[in-house]
Amino acid sequence: MLNNFEYNFDEDVNRVGTNCAKYDGLDRYFGYEDLQPMWVADMDFKSPKCINDAIIDAAKNSLYGYSIDGDDIYESIVYWQKTRHNWELDIKDIFMANGVVPSYSACIEAFSEKGDEVIVQTPVYPPLFKAVTANNRKVVENRLINDNGYYTMDFEDLKSKITSKTKILCLCSPHNPVGRVWNKEELETLADICIAHNIMIISDEIHSDLTFKKFIPLASISEKIAQITLTLNSAGKTFNIAGLNTSYAISKNQEILDKFKKEARKREIHSVNFFGYVATKAAYNEGASYVDDLKKYLQKNIKFTKEYLQNNCPKITFLEPEATYLLWLNFANTGLEHNEIKTKLLTEAKLALNDGVSFGSNADKYFRLNLATNQNALKMGLKKLEITFSYK
Ligand SMILES: Cc1ncc(COP(=O)(O)O)c(C=O)c1O
Repeated sequence: MLNNFEYNFDEDVNRVGTNCAKYDGLDRYFGYEDLQPMWVADMDFKSPKCINDAIIDAAKNSLYGYSIDGDDIYESIVYWQKTRHNWELDIKDIFMANGVVPSYSACIEAFSEKGDEVIVQTPVYPPLFKAVTANNRKVVENRLINDNGYYTMDFEDLKSKITSKTKILCLCSPHNPVGRVWNKEELETLADICIAHNIMIISDEIHSDLTFKKFIPLASISEKIAQITLTLNSAGKTFNIAGLNTSYAISKNQEILDKFKKEARKREIHSVNFFGYVATKAAYNEGASYVDDLKKYLQKNIKFTKEYLQNNCPKITFLEPEATYLLWLNFANTGLEHNEIKTKLLTEAKLALNDGVSFGSNADKYFRLNLATNQNALKMGLKKLEITFSYK
């Protein structure tokens, strides 16, 4: 049954036994095998047929040697960014790599020195601060302001944190886990501060296609902002192909892009994955309608969850995200301590959610729930939350 959607997001998929981290990694990451996985950011939805066809076609030759990048992959990225986000790019502005996180780590080394400071806006996707310390740089937290679940940037705090050692600001746009799509004014204010203090911005825009309001690529705002920005992106989240480890970096500042290329080559993260290449190309050239349908399905899941929790488990609250399939759940009204909530989730609800504390020091009593699954599985997960947290 396809319901109102061209793609069947209601389909039950069996991912157990496929070496998939989300299901097969439960024991390793949570210490229990029998959990319903609603954690790591990939989806229980099949990728569109255009991607499968491209992969099967590429496999027909039974040859899987090294790939090199050609203009065709860059042209598909230019096409996608123009048609989805009205961002004019040239193929010379783009460089392929093996993942947003490996690329981000390369940026830390390429654009700062040991002991320099990198500003991150917490709570945020953990590798964005872990990669800083792993490269012997210092993480400086510019905490987001949380106004009843609506997060904004704290520009005064940001200005007060800048020192002569501050070299990079890491922007997560849209923001994982708080679900904000930053508006033009916020992005401009942020960029103005960075320009004034000679700080470059690494903008992680991996969730940019799964946005429910207008998304503005940071570097598309003005030439001045483009000159201090390196953007990281991939088709991984949008089309559920994260396991193909294919991403790209964009900068209109050729000096910045050249430095990135040099570091990417040094780290050997620039050779394009054979299947990632054809999958990304097919996704961007032919996958637009999949994304349109997917966004509708995700919005339905978000609305359903909102109503379900309001009616059945009002102690767990969240503000509807402006982007992503990730909910930033607040358990404060349960009256329980963070570790009690964590234990109950694992031992009573039998749910694997991401622990909020791993996203930064300002996430006590928060857990992140991934609702990119079919509605039956979602209902089952919500019922477990209800039973565990409503009646005690
Ligand atoms: C904000 C953000 N950046 C990067 C990644 C991972 O990117 P990649 O798999 O390309 O390293 C994720 C995955 O959840 C993410 O949420």
